[in-house]
Amino acid sequence: TVPVILDVDTGVDDALAILFAVRHPGIDVLAISCVAGNAPLERVVDNTLRVLDAADAPEIPVAAGAARPLLAPARSASHVHGASGLGGVALPPTRRRPEPVSAVELMRQRILAHDGPVTLVALAPQTNLALLLRTHPEVAERIERIVFMGGSASVGNATAVAEFNVWHDPEAAAIVLDSGVPAYMYGLDVFNRVAIDHDTARALEHGADPLGRVVGALLGHRVALSEDRTAEYTGLIGDAGAVCSIVDPLALRTEVRPVHVELTGHGRGQTLVDRRRTSGEDTMHGLTGDWARVEVALDVDAERVARLFL
Ligand code: BDR
Ligand code: CA
Repeated sequence: TVPVILDVDTGVDDALAILFAVRHPGIDVLAISCVAGNAPLERVVDNTLRVLDAADAPEIPVAAGAARPLLAPARSASHVHGASGLGGVALPPTRRRPEPVSAVELMRQRILAHDGPVTLVALAPQTNLALLLRTHPEVAERIERIVFMGGSASVGNATAVAEFNVWHDPEAAAIVLDSGVPAYMYGLDVFNRVAIDHDTARALEHGADPLGRVVGALLGHRVALSEDRTAEYTGLIGDAGAVCSIVDPLALRTEVRPVHVELTGHGRGQTLVDRRRTSGEDTMHGLTGDWARVEVALDVDAERVARLFL
């Protein structure tokens, strides 16, 4: 099993990712850290705890982290995830409580206490991760890699060129990518492709299995979005796909590429991915020599990942 710490802003598709992670036998969720993003921090923490109940998960420590980005102003994503952050999906209140320590401290403790390297799975703005790496750089060598949902090698969603998680806290993403910890980018190029069709989502929502009903309802929110917004959100499993990539890496095609987080102007929050053929030459031209080398997911067998998720 792969020991992971999830960093989330739950969030409809973060909920799907948590459900998948805690129920998949190949993944051991050591802790979950919460950050403001898709919803305000308190909602994120409460949603996360409720989702763990819905999954009938064992005790997994959850802690609250950053309530806002490092430099950027706090912004709302309620137009995508609803006021609650979970679309219209009402999960029952939970007796689970967050840990009495910060997300950064929880991550530090769990990473150092674990026997062997830990994978960080970032499904949200990377504020907590940046704070962790800057405050406790000694954890870096204990991190196997950072798998993050964020960025894009093509089109954006928050802006024409920037993906939401990176755009929400670009300075944090830059700190994380430049930290030297190996990174795997599950960006919009693949995020926007893995979906569950309407009929399957509806069958789950109205089926007998309690967990399936929750998953179906969450997917139904994504489907509903497409009716009044944009088709690209239809039935997407979203962040859950990043967790699936850990279980079935061969379902994706990746390339190691120089990546830079743009911090200024209209391009703020864009992940510049140097996809030119001759990277040796690019370095000679002095453009990308100091950019982080990131494993970027560029293509996915979407049906295979959707099946895995189901
Ligand atoms: C990212 O932002 C949120 O909408 C999703 O949860 C995902 O992490 C997509 O840009
Ligand atoms: Ca998210």
